[in-house]
Amino acid sequence: NDYDLLVVGSANADLVIGVERRPAPGETVLGSDLAVHPGGKGANQAVAAARLGARTALLARVGDDAHGRLLLDSQRAAGVDTGAVRVGGAPTGVALITVDPSGDNSIVVSPGANARLTPDDIRDAAGLFARARVVSAQLEIPLETVTEAVRARAAGSRFVLNPSPPRPLPAEVLTACDPLVLNEHEARFVLGGDGLDGKDPEGRARALLALGARSVVVTLGAEGALVAEGGGTAVRVPSPRVGAVDTTGAGDAFTAALAWRLGRGEDLVTAAAFAVRVGAAAVTKEGAQASFPTAGEVAAL
Ligand code: RIB
Ligand code: NA
Repeated sequence: NDYDLLVVGSANADLVIGVERRPAPGETVLGSDLAVHPGGKGANQAVAAARLGARTALLARVGDDAHGRLLLDSQRAAGVDTGAVRVGGAPTGVALITVDPSGDNSIVVSPGANARLTPDDIRDAAGLFARARVVSAQLEIPLETVTEAVRARAAGSRFVLNPSPPRPLPAEVLTACDPLVLNEHEARFVLGGDGLDGKDPEGRARALLALGARSVVVTLGAEGALVAEGGGTAVRVPSPRVGAVDTTGAGDAFTAALAWRLGRGEDLVTAAAFAVRVGAAAVTKEGAQASFPTAGEVAAL
């Protein structure tokens, strides 16, 4: 394989303002100076993997505009192959992000060009799929495009999905996930009515396996992650304690690290133990991509 990881997903310009607290409806609050960072769950995953040393390609769509150039520059600087990134058709996606003093964020995404990444774009990139060991996707692009990515995979290549923002998934996608990587909030949405009846994370992971996912990883923030695969019991993987500055993109870094390590043949628990350290490193710095660690920085944590 030429690529350890092919990321199919979104690329957004993150417009970030720090706030003491979020405004209530009808209220205005003052925040920090505006910061503009390269982001988007797909672009973030690609940079995170490449920075760790993975041979990585990104399949995404950006606008023919300054935000699009910002995103392409950050991918190239990290060493990601951007040959399949499509340009034009709509403005680059934008994420409006507020970050509060505890490092938690709230995000509104305007998909822009991400919504124009089509199943045809997947079919046009058949050569890339043939050379990728792992394919990873999220849900800031159309669901039919994600479904086509599942179909385009080479035999034996692994599919990893972070269903964010969450919605119920068709069986064809769910049964390809190995693993499905999601937080507790996303788990409730993917489970629909079944997820709302007071299950604990273990119960939700079991319910997602019963729905057809081949394996499930529930991320638990500062508590680490919960790993479950068919037959076995769920295993908790603790996170190192760190001071949170900005959690934006930490989940993307976690998922990318996990996908890369699984592609190298590690078992789910071992790969997750590495990935929680990558995610923990990412929350200690501002921004998404700017905060992602190298392999050396993970080892030093
Ligand atoms: O997961 C973090 C990302 O979500 C941000 O970079 C933002 O662009 C949104 O896609
Ligand atoms: Na961060």
